Amino acid sequence: MRVCRPRGLLLLFALLAVVSARLAIAQAISGISLPTPVRVGNPGWWPTKGEAAREEYVGATECAGCHGSTAASYRNTAMAHAVAHVGDSESLRQHAQLTFQDGPFHYLLETSGDKSGLRVNSEAGAVSADLLWAFGAGRMGQTYLYQQKEDWFESRVSFFSEVQGLDITPGHVRSIPGSLSGALGLKQDPPTEIRRCFGCHTTASATDNHFDPADAVPGVNCEACHGPGALHARAMKAGEASAKQLIFNPAHLDPVEQVDFCGACHRTWQDVVGTGLTGVGMLNVRFAPYRLENSKCWRQQDGRLSCVACHNPHKPLVRDANTYDAVCEQCHVARGMKKTAARAAPACPVATKNCVSCHMQKYTPPNLHSSFTDHWIRIVRSGKPYPD
Ligand code: HEC
Ligand code: HEC
Ligand code: HEC
Ligand code: HEC
Ligand code: HEC
Ligand code: HEC
Ligand code: HEC
Repeated sequence: MRVCRPRGLLLLFALLAVVSARLAIAQAISGISLPTPVRVGNPGWWPTKGEAAREEYVGATECAGCHGSTAASYRNTAMAHAVAHVGDSESLRQHAQLTFQDGPFHYLLETSGDKSGLRVNSEAGAVSADLLWAFGAGRMGQTYLYQQKEDWFESRVSFFSEVQGLDITPGHVRSIPGSLSGALGLKQDPPTEIRRCFGCHTTASATDNHFDPADAVPGVNCEACHGPGALHARAMKAGEASAKQLIFNPAHLDPVEQVDFCGACHRTWQDVVGTGLTGVGMLNVRFAPYRLENSKCWRQQDGRLSCVACHNPHKPLVRDANTYDAVCEQCHVARGMKKTAARAAPACPVATKNCVSCHMQKYTPPNLHSSFTDHWIRIVRSGKPYPD
């Protein structure tokens, strides 16, 4: 779904030039959100970086051998299932025949065995493609990729969980396409775009700076975040003292870097601002780091409010609103209670629990058939527009 990809690369590169020039300063000061291409360009590991060789990766099964409970809980997360080969897509298996009508175009997405094909008919004829990859664990939905010769295409229709059916893929124009092939899907142009999709949804799709989707490990796996782990695993087995240092642990990052770390895929504040995704209305509610860093609560750039303060990346998303209260109460006093140096933020005059239900509300952007949580923590006043 294209809306989750940075646009306006040119602008980004312009910004990149400026930021790179200040990089030495930025690194010294820290506490500044950077565009992901800058982080990826720095020495050392960063998510979506494709520099390491394939032999440096060891695979999640190996990690699970020593980090059993982490691996077991991680298996149930959406990130672990961010992509599947079509033959492994549960959603396709459960919906063996999906149809959709858009003006003159009739769509049929048919699954049989481990093959799925997308076919479009109109009075002008028919076109079809064998689908290769299903993107998305399915909280919102699933989008399909196929290949024609060397070119990659994104299906013009996606499956949406909320309606249990097909609709136009977000980011694609909703007006009737002029051709059958245009109705089938959108060519990924420039080809680097497709590398970015795999970079955020799979593990080790690029190694030695060479993009090789056939060898991509489906889903965001241990090494997509922690970097290649063969050395760490080997050294641990050999009982070497340096073994702990041979794997990237994001816990050592400062709070801003931590948010940028998740932002490598969820989009950093700079990724959003630098690609013109402000002022676009509710669509940018998907970019949690951007929204969070706009909050008054974030001004102290405090580790008590980085992504991992609320989300354990190794566990499924917690949907129970009151479990987040403890995070707010790290800084906000309760009514009638005295402030302390550590808890100096004001009390709520309205309520004492379920803080996120009012201050982190859910929005459903147009055509997405799914709600997202606004990470811009704020007082929501009825009648006031969504601040974008
Ligand atoms: C042979 C056993 C073994 C294997 C295989 C292994 N680890 Fe570890 N790992 C350990 C031990 C032991 C520690 C230190 C104790 C701890 O922090 O849990 C550790 C520590 C870590 C840390 C924390 C490092 C720090 O800075 O404190 C991370 C992150 C990590 N491992 C990730 C991984 C990943 C990812 C994989 C797979 C690529 C992996 N490990 C494979 C045994 C192993
Ligand atoms: C390598 C890319 C990547 C990185 C790094 C990454 N994410 Fe994700 N994350 C994704 C993708 C892709 C999805 C969408 C998965 C899906 O639903 O298909 C996702 C989904 C999520 C979700 C939603 C889960 C759900 O059940 O809907 C949460 C929460 C999340 N990520 C938190 C984090 C946090 C916290 C970090 C940083 C510690 C992080 N992510 C880092 C790629 C990444
Ligand atoms: C910059 C990283 C990035 C790129 C590039 C990217 N995605 Fe995503 N994608 C994410 C993250 C993070 C999420 C989860 C948050 C959200 O839905 O916005 C996500 C969510 C999705 C979802 C919804 C998943 C669900 O469970 O409902 C689909 C479908 C999807 N992406 C498909 C694609 C496709 C197809 C491409 C390339 C054509 C692509 N994405 C490129 C990071 C990325
Ligand atoms: C989405 C990114 C992401 C993925 C995927 C991921 N981790 Fe982590 N991991 C983190 C972050 C962030 C931390 C630091 C947590 C903190 O600061 O509290 C961490 C910390 C760790 C640690 C240090 C001890 C701890 O629990 O804090 C170990 C060990 C570890 N991860 C192992 C794994 C293994 C094994 C996998 C695969 C099953 C995995 N991780 C997948 C982001 C990730
Ligand atoms: C103060 C707590 C808090 C912090 C900090 C936080 N989140 Fe969330 N996040 C939530 C809550 C609450 C939900 C909604 C849970 C539910 O489904 O009810 C959520 C949901 C999500 C989702 C699922 C899609 C959606 O929008 O509902 C993603 C992805 C996500 N967060 C990513 C992140 C990332 C990345 C960061 C760091 C920039 C982050 N979150 C920081 C509380 C937080
Ligand atoms: C790291 C500390 C910290 C955490 C954690 C934190 N806040 Fe805040 N919050 C602040 C500070 C500081 C302010 C600014 C107070 C001021 O302007 O006097 C603030 C302001 C606010 C405001 C007023 C915003 C406005 O626009 O006037 C609300 C509402 C709020 N926080 C709610 C929450 C909720 C709900 C949570 C948990 C989901 C939370 N905060 C977590 C520190 C924090
Ligand atoms: C039922 C909805 C609701 C819930 C639940 C709720 N709040 Fe509020 N909160 C509000 C409203 C409305 C305001 C604005 C009050 C006003 O200015 O008239 C507010 C104001 C605030 C402020 C600004 C206070 C100031 O003096 O500037 C903070 C901080 C805050 N809430 C934090 C929290 C925290 C922390 C929680 C959870 C313990 C919480 N809220 C739960 C609705 C809620």
